[in-house]
Parts: sequence; structure tokens; C-alpha cells
Amino acid sequence: MNQIPTRPTFDEFDELNNPRPEETDFARLAARAVSRRAFLGGTVVVGASALVMGTTALTPLRAFAAGRLGFEQVAANGLDTVTVPLGYRWQVALSWGDPLWSTSMPFDDSTRGTGASQELAVGDNNDGMAMFAHEGRTILAVNNEYVNIGVIHGNREGGKPSGADDVRKSKAGHGVTVAELARSGDGWHIVVDSPFNRRITADTPMEMTGPARGDDRLKTAADPSGTRALGTVNNCGNGRTPWGTYLTCEENFNGYFSASDEKQIIADAWKRYGIGAKDWGYAWATVDERFDISKHPNEPNRFGYIVEINPLDPTSTPKKRTALGRFKHENAELVLSADGRTVVYMGDDERGEFIYRFVSDGRYVEGADNADLLENGRLYVAKFNDNGRGDWLELTPDSTGMGSQAEICIHTRLAASKVGATTMDRPEWVSANPRKAEVYCCLTNNSRRATDAKNAGGDAMVPGGPNPRAKNNYGQIVRWTPDGGDHLAVGFGWDLFATAGNPTVHSDAYAGSDNVNASNMFNSPDGLAFDGNGLLWIQTDGNYSDAKDFAGQGNNQMLVGDPATGEIKRFLVGPRESEITGITWSPDRSTLFVGVQHPGEKGGSHFPGGGASVPRSSVIAITRTDGGKIG
Ligand code: FEO
Ligand code: CA
Ligand code: CA
Repeated sequence: MNQIPTRPTFDEFDELNNPRPEETDFARLAARAVSRRAFLGGTVVVGASALVMGTTALTPLRAFAAGRLGFEQVAANGLDTVTVPLGYRWQVALSWGDPLWSTSMPFDDSTRGTGASQELAVGDNNDGMAMFAHEGRTILAVNNEYVNIGVIHGNREGGKPSGADDVRKSKAGHGVTVAELARSGDGWHIVVDSPFNRRITADTPMEMTGPARGDDRLKTAADPSGTRALGTVNNCGNGRTPWGTYLTCEENFNGYFSASDEKQIIADAWKRYGIGAKDWGYAWATVDERFDISKHPNEPNRFGYIVEINPLDPTSTPKKRTALGRFKHENAELVLSADGRTVVYMGDDERGEFIYRFVSDGRYVEGADNADLLENGRLYVAKFNDNGRGDWLELTPDSTGMGSQAEICIHTRLAASKVGATTMDRPEWVSANPRKAEVYCCLTNNSRRATDAKNAGGDAMVPGGPNPRAKNNYGQIVRWTPDGGDHLAVGFGWDLFATAGNPTVHSDAYAGSDNVNASNMFNSPDGLAFDGNGLLWIQTDGNYSDAKDFAGQGNNQMLVGDPATGEIKRFLVGPRESEITGITWSPDRSTLFVGVQHPGEKGGSHFPGGGASVPRSSVIAITRTDGGKIG
């Protein structure tokens, strides 16, 4: 029952370590009573709890006009390959373990690499990414979120790390890969030995900046100043700035820490972030004691930030931006306000956590020195009201009762709980419409939402507002429009762009919204990005069993949505046991780069090599056969 499967996904691991409360009869009743119609046609009241949808969410979507989605939809499938529409083709641009320098070792299926080879090669589990054009060169910065323990240590007993070199390899598999890419007859490939190539890992020196810089909570034995950290981990989604830097976002940083003291008391601030005595199988603390919270209790306070990197200078020091808060950062969507301030929207991906907004004190001026715009500003958290309205609540010592802005920037989840923010269904990527002041966020799922459920901070997770369904295993996409069309506004209106579901299994709210049907259905929207045409690309990280509640949905996939009409079409299906995450374009928009993460995470894929090869996370390049632009 409560046994950890031999190769659990991290979601499964989390679920087993933090089991959800028993579902109540009331929750079941509510789930049944919220009819599918409620999403698009009316308001439903269940018992004492009024499930009132945002007013704009009740507006039926317009019939799909002659679509802007000009491709033939791909059918859901369970193939161990990538499927794209007719008229498109794909190739692997780079994979985990590919050499960046001529001194690197080629990837070796039998050893799956060593510490030394991994430090000179593409990291594992590529996630968020961005392409930078520079003097005719094309430079990709791509996150390496985590390592697939069972794969990279698949040559070891039980698929577990064994000894110091395995830990060295694991740490080097994390972080960010910067690689110059070039296109030749056979497609996109890494420019080996490019002066731009760089590996940033769990051991790369970083600078702490912003309100928490130098705070006592950031001081450790190795860094008594609290200003110099080592490494970045669990780099999930990304962002980019108008001044040409890359933002990498630290998500599940808690999984690397453990306690050597069997009697270690786990402080509330640790519990809120899931930091405990047991790590997630990486075993880093067995080799590097800074991941042992019994010995270095402040080390976890130095992770959970957004890190700014100059992708064009391999000697630059990455900067951890504490002003943007510490939580399980998904991505960072940066827009400019009407008066030129940088506004960064961010999700905190955990059941019942929040959506945040950062507003810089300074203004962006093209051509000026904007390098430290993310160093100081105001931090807000979102409150969504049931009536389709919402507000940004500023996090200050006054509003939270906390001692300083530094404390707020370190214990951001605790601060947000104090002001009454809305607990969300796992906020993943945020993306802003380039054609109007409108922002979308994937709420991937929340198996534990229920009338009597609480998040890790004790905040209620009652179904309602933008999180309307109890035991939400499908997810939804919320969008909001700032008042007056200015991203500085305190107030906003919101609605749901789509609620995922399965209309072949359910006829109630779990069937999904009207723009979800048997031919385009999906679960667990996660990655999200607008293209230059104002179309919304949606990537999934969900249940790929293709059975029961998920029957007919196949492998994880990528879809395209039209914000104006609500139309959604499936563009791509990934290989077995993969997640589709990370998206960027070549400078001329002729190539769409997409991430295929953790194929075969349970042992059921050999992507991309086929045969008996080791599965490898990869970035694929998609082009049109007629050479035209994509997005
Ligand atoms: Fe790394 Fe929330 O996904
Ligand atoms: Ca994600
Ligand atoms: Ca996810």
C-alpha cells in the first residue's frame, strides 16, 4: 500500500510521503453535483458551499471560426516516439550527455557517464529554455531540472547512486546548459568548443542579491557573509529579460536535503517547503555535507530562488534574486508596465500554494544599464475572489507582521499565508499574451483539493473560484486581465480559459470545459508559452496511463490554443513516459524547439535511440517541410 514503487515519479514520491486526507462524503457529493454545465452555463450551489464561477468564465466560448490553428490535429497515442502534424518534421537537437567540448567523452550507454564526463556534457532532464541571437550566432540556455535517478544510475545495484563519483555525476547533471547551436544539412546540432558553451551545476559559485543578501538566515560555515552561494538545483521553468539575460527557476530544492541526526527536529519553516530528514534518493548529503540540515541548517535558505544568468558571458557569476521570493518557482514571465517597470509573474508549484507578482523599483530603459532591475522591488501574492475579480496583496513587514523584507523574501510562503492569498491547484507556467494585457497560468492538478483540506501552511483548499473541482486530477488554465490594461494595477478580472477533463468517461465537471472534447483532451497542463502570433502553446505533464480517468489521452503532449476563440488542437505527442516541457524558437522562427523530459522514467522507453538504448531527455527541433515559420 504505502510502498514506494521501485521507480516512482517525483509526484508519486511526494504523494506517498505526504498522503492526502481521506476524501469526504461531502467532497464526493460536491464533485458529482458540479455539472459540466456549471463551467460554461451557470452557477451551482452545493450544500453550504457556493461554487460560483468567475462571471466571464460563464460566457460560452464562441463557435470556432475558421481557425488560426492551421494544422491537422495529431491523434493521441502511446508510441515511443514524437508525433507531429503532417507538413512538419522533427529531429533531436541535443540530448542528455552530449559533449559540449572536444575534450568531453561521448555518451556511453554502459556507464551512463561519469562525474568528469557529465561536467563537460549536456545535463539531464531538460526543461525551460530560451534562445539568444548574438552576432549571427544562436545560443541556447536550457535548464536541467533534475536527474532520473533510475536511469543515470541504471548501471548500479537497484538503480541507486553508489559512491562519490555517482553523486558528482548527479550534481553535474543539474543546473543549466548553455550551448551554441548551428544548423546544417542534417538539422540543428551543438557547436562543440563554442566559446559560449557553459555548464552551470549544483556547485557553480553564485551571488545572493536583493533584500535577503547578507541576512543571518543565509549565513553558513562556508559563507559567513551570506552573500556567496554554491550551485542551483531543480531548475524548472525559465524566463528571459528585455536586457538579454536568462532566468532559471529553482523548484523542488527540498529533495536534495536530509538530516544525519536521527533526532533532528524539523522546524515549521522547513516543513512548509517539504524539507525533511529524508532526501529523494539523490544521496548528496552522503558526499557533500552542506546538504545535511543537521550540520548546515541555513543551506536550504539559499535555494528556492530565481537566478539571473548572462548567457553570453561564460565567466559571469549567476545572481540569485531574493527580491522575487523563495518558493518552488516554476517559471518567471516578465512584462513591462506602462511606465516601464519590470513585472514578473510567478507560480509556486505545490498543492495549495500561490501565484506571485514582482514589480521592480526601477524602470527599464533600452540601451541603459538594466542589469540590477531585479534586485529591488515589491512582491505581491494573488487573491482570487469567487466573483471573477482578484487583487494583488503586497507582502511587507506591515502586511505580514514579519520582521523584515529579508525574512519575507526567505520565508515567502509563510508571508503569503499571513495575508490570505488564494490556495491554487499547483501553479505551473505563467505566460503573458503579447497582444493584450492578459496573463495565463496552468493549474496543473490538485488531487487533494477538498472542502476539509489544507495546504502545508494550514490554509484551506476548499473547491471554488479558479480551483472549482475537488480531487482535481485534470487541471485547468486560469487567465487574468489587469485593471486598465496595466500590469501595475492592484485589481484584475479572471476567468478559466480551459478546464481539462475526460468527456468520454465523465459527464460532469470532470468532463472538462466545452473547448475540451474526445479528440483534443489532455490532463495536467504545465508548460505554457505564447508565440509571436498570439497563440498559446500548452504542454502537459500528466498521467500517461491511457486508462480509467485518462483513457484515450495517451502520452504527454503539446497543444495550441487560440485565446480569442478558445479553440484547442493537439500539435504533438511525446514518447512513452515523457513530459513535454520547455519551448523556444530560432531567431527566424523557422524552428520550434521543444523539450522531451524523462522518457522512460519508469523503464518503458528507449527514446530517442531506440533498440535497447538508454532513454535520454532531449531537445527536439521542429520545422515545417515547406520551410515556413512556426509561431
Ligand atoms: Fe518542474 Fe512544476 O514542474
Ligand atoms: Ca513543470
Ligand atoms: Ca508538472
